[in-house]
Amino acid sequence: MSPVAPPPAPPRLSLQSAAIAPETTALRSLDWDRSRFDIEFGLRNGTTYNAFLIRGQRTALIDTSHAKFRESWLPQLQSLIDPRAIDHLVVSHTEPDHSGLVADLLELNPDLEVVGSKVAINYLEHQVHRPFRSRAVKSGDSLDLGCADGGTSDHRLEFVSAPNLHWPDTIFSYDHGTGVLYSCDAFGLHYCSDEVFDSDPGAIAPDFRFYYDCLMGPNARSVLQALKRLEALPPVTTIATGHGPLLRHHLGLWLGDYDAWSRDRSKGDRYAAVAYVSQYGFCDRLSQAIARGIGKTDLPVQLVDLRGTDPQELTALIGDAAAVVLPTPPARPDGDLRAAWGTVLAALRPSQPVGLYDAYGGNDEPIDAIGQQLRDLGHAEAFPPLRIRTVPDATAFQQCEEAGTDLGQLLLRDKAIAAMKALDADLDKALGRLSGGLYIVTARQGEGEAARSGAMVASWVSQASFDPPGLTVAVARDRAIESLMQVGDRFVLNVLAEGNHQQLLRHFLRRFPPGADRFAGVATLTDVARGGPVLTEALAYLDCRVLQRLEGGDHWLIYAEVENGNVADAEGRTATHHRKVGNHY
Ligand code: FEO
Repeated sequence: MSPVAPPPAPPRLSLQSAAIAPETTALRSLDWDRSRFDIEFGLRNGTTYNAFLIRGQRTALIDTSHAKFRESWLPQLQSLIDPRAIDHLVVSHTEPDHSGLVADLLELNPDLEVVGSKVAINYLEHQVHRPFRSRAVKSGDSLDLGCADGGTSDHRLEFVSAPNLHWPDTIFSYDHGTGVLYSCDAFGLHYCSDEVFDSDPGAIAPDFRFYYDCLMGPNARSVLQALKRLEALPPVTTIATGHGPLLRHHLGLWLGDYDAWSRDRSKGDRYAAVAYVSQYGFCDRLSQAIARGIGKTDLPVQLVDLRGTDPQELTALIGDAAAVVLPTPPARPDGDLRAAWGTVLAALRPSQPVGLYDAYGGNDEPIDAIGQQLRDLGHAEAFPPLRIRTVPDATAFQQCEEAGTDLGQLLLRDKAIAAMKALDADLDKALGRLSGGLYIVTARQGEGEAARSGAMVASWVSQASFDPPGLTVAVARDRAIESLMQVGDRFVLNVLAEGNHQQLLRHFLRRFPPGADRFAGVATLTDVARGGPVLTEALAYLDCRVLQRLEGGDHWLIYAEVENGNVADAEGRTATHHRKVGNHY
């Protein structure tokens, strides 16, 4: 009789409450094993959903939790306070990881006043399916909670609009009594630990950066606007984020990073506008994947919500863009959306390349009809239409990301050629004397619908440690596979053999369409290494795990520990690569 495999362990969920400021308690939902945030956003260290209770004369709760915590979160809240004693629920935005228990809370306390941006209140009315008291707020509005009997702080929440960080309805709340800024998604990171604060910045810095690149970078201009609004506030003592540890001990570092990264992504006046329709199909997530792909090139990107952007701003954002990406809108749009779509079509200029993607909202305009309409108006295709015909899986998101990168590279082609030519001729020849081996990096993550894979030719590879064995690989920032080489990810370095590498080299040097399977027609072994496919024709392979990433100019320098490896021919030699000039590979 064969042994019966034990059922998989349930994901670990736990709760933590901690005093973080006078009369202020954080209620953190710790989701230790969450491995994906949306299907396209891989997590290595789980995540947390943070809510906050502030007790003045009146009591406010900021955000709730993900619905998966329903059984434990509500009792934990009840152990802190009778829910009927909560006067206000501040909803920072309405994404379900923070607003998943709003309806449950209203059930316990129907008199609760829900405070949020106008857009958030509007969205919430469709989410909770019951009437509730509400107060719509905008930048500069405040909510006076007063000082509790025996308390030490006079709590007054001032609201700061932060649209697109990362939902259109986002607001921050700043407590003048404690200096705590409640920033929800902004400044967050997906990192689960018992540490309430940022006591070990080195441990969390890679996740802080990865989170910024995935969620905030595509809205860099909005980040800068929000930072400017924060400058007008009194000093912030703590950033109480919606995900991960709260930021207190290294505020200058984190704020400085957001400022520098966002300035870098907003430089110049050329940008690509990626439009989406909030709360429609998979539009926002698909648009983020496209924006993330564009962001990997040097081209700034601007996400544009067709539902929430006023006509004048919409005209400017679309008309000034170097290229525009549009979703398939609903075939029967409501009046506002119909007007917004008309504004977009009127603002487009014939010189702008336009890319199209399906929203998969169940009621989309046919993508081919829109494509024809745009061709008739004289627009070049920025990338082949992204036909999303099922609920988007990892492959669809990868396709979107790679289409975005192709678009960025297309628009920056002249700049890249000019940069190559600008290198001093002598320096160029001297750099060209650096030689390397020839390798194919392969990576595969996830199973089934969540599987993503990639491959690239590499020659900037070097052993970097004996014990434990380690190596470095330089990967251009706009490489598709770069997304699969974050800290903690695994990959395989396939060493090409001298005299037997031309065919593999030709295959992997091809330009692949967005989302294409890089391994079609190539013999691979898939169960040898943990990091990805091993090429059957390779001379050797090394199974690696990323430990660190260093940002070096236009490449990431990836340091990885080698966990395993083997060689097919002990006498074989590595294919080498000699160059004449240093301005390209
Ligand atoms: Fe963390 Fe936008 O939800």
